[in-house]
Parts: sequence; C-alpha cells; structure tokens
Amino acid sequence: MILVAGSANLDFVVRAPHIPAPGETVLGRDFKTFPGGKGANQAVASARAGGSPTHMLLGLGNDAFASPLESSLQSAGVTMHIVRTPDHPTGTAFICVSDDAENAITVAPGANAELRPEHLPSLAGFTHLLLQLETPLDTVTAYAQAARAKGVQVVLNAAPARPLPAELLALVDVLVVNEGELAVVSGHQGSIAACLERLAVPTVVVTLGHHGSCARHLGGFVLQSAFPITPVDTTGAGDTFCGSLVAALSQGKDLPTALRFASASSALACTRWGAQSSIPDTAEVQALLDASPISDPASESALRSFCGLN
Ligand code: RIB
Repeated sequence: MILVAGSANLDFVVRAPHIPAPGETVLGRDFKTFPGGKGANQAVASARAGGSPTHMLLGLGNDAFASPLESSLQSAGVTMHIVRTPDHPTGTAFICVSDDAENAITVAPGANAELRPEHLPSLAGFTHLLLQLETPLDTVTAYAQAARAKGVQVVLNAAPARPLPAELLALVDVLVVNEGELAVVSGHQGSIAACLERLAVPTVVVTLGHHGSCARHLGGFVLQSAFPITPVDTTGAGDTFCGSLVAALSQGKDLPTALRFASASSALACTRWGAQSSIPDTAEVQALLDASPISDPASESALRSFCGLN
C-alpha cells in the first residue's frame, strides 16, 4: 500500500504564445481550471497505475476550490486523509502553458503549508511513502523519519527545487528529480552522472524530458530513453512519472522495468491538457509499452552521452 503525503492545488491554466518575461503582458486564451498539486497528481498517477491501493494525506481549506480536488482523487480511487483548515484557503497554482508545451507555475500553498508532523496517519500496512516539497520541510522530514522507523520505503520527489538538509537525504531510499532539481540538490554543475554520484541516497532518478531518464542504482547506472510523443502540455508529467514509478516498485518490479513504465506513463500525460486530467491508466500505458521496442540503440547512445557516461 502506498501513502502519498503532500500538496493539492486547484490549477488556473491559461495557454499563451509564449511564457511572459518579467514585466511583460501576454494575451492568452483557453483558460481552464484543473485539479493539480504535485502530491495529488502523484497520488492519482499511483492509483491509475493499479496494483497497490493508494492513500493520500492532504490539507484542504473549507472553500469551493477543495471540492474538485476531492472529486478527482476520489474518482481515481485514492483514499483520502484530509486535514481541513478553515482559516487557510485550498492551495492554488497559476500556470501559463506556452504553445510549445512549456510551462511556468506559481503556487499559493494555502492549506498545504498547514500539514504538520502530528497529521501523519498510522503507517501500518504501508510499504511506500511518497513525498514532495510543496509542504513544509520540517513536516516532510518528520514523515520520512516516521517511515524509516517503521521500515516503510521513503521516495522523495525534490520538487520544487531547494537544497536539502543531509538529515532528510539520509532518510530517503529513492530520490526523484529533474535536471534543474538535480543541480540544486547535488550542489554541483557537472555532468548528470557526476551529480548523481554526489548524492548519498541508495537510488537517485533524474528525469530529462525528451532525452529520457537516468538512475544511479546498486553501484551502476540505468538508462531509459523517452517515448517519442508530440507534447501539448507537460504540466504534471514529472508527477505522473513519480506516482507511476512508485506504483511499479510497490508491485515488486525491478528498477529498469519501473523506469520504463513511468516513462511511458509520463509521455502519455504530455499529450493531453491539465495535470490529473492527463494521467493515463495502466491499460493505456501497457498498450504504449506493447507497441514500443524494448530498446533503441541510437537514442540510448544519445542519452548515455547526454548524461556524461561515455
Ligand atoms: O507539477 C505540476 C503541479 O505543480 C501543478 O499541478 C501545480 O499545482 C503545481 O503543484
């Protein structure tokens, strides 16, 4: 069983020709709201991947923005442990998606910032705890400590990027970052491989967009090329990767198999609008896996060189 502890936001999304520069106003179009938040996106991805049941600990305000977030988690099959904070609004995120599918996100944490160490439910029956950094760092650390004490695997998605105290890193079994987060967390500007080597965590996975992903694991490197797609909106792709990865690991899949599943799932998420609305279920992911070659030597070689592994 998987517990995701983290954020839930209502995403206010506008499409625009490009992401505005500081001081610039851009005329956008197609405004919509979507259920989002890194924690909730990851919980939905984990639940849609099937296998182990997924629970989520989240903070919500007593307001109208909470209801679409609860509905989305419920319809994905996530069991919710809600901390209701009447004095703090539900978290929101303001997202501009450019025509080339890039995004810029500003989060107003609201109730997410009210999650406290004492809110953690009993960890009995859980095998994995999945955390992110949109909730307070001392809370994240306390949850990781509690999980370690109970023998629950701790998976941390270090997003949004920030330097991490050694005390927290020492509690993490699997760390998932993107390229920018890897530089911040490792405090190093070298190659991907060199940054991965510097982190004293048993397994570190870095997602590299259209290049694919790379993990440092059991003293070696595991490479996974990206599945070729035409992206529409990359919002939530990293969260889809994290939730799908943990779901696959909790089903006993080995790391290369779990990476391949997570890569396929996040590729599909980039082909649709929104965060939770874009996350595929396991049948759709399996169909993509079945239709794709297990390996592609040319893209693997390009990925190896991108990571500085030649
Ligand atoms: O990772 C994407 C998510 O980041 C969005 O859904 C937004 O809510 C922010 O948390």
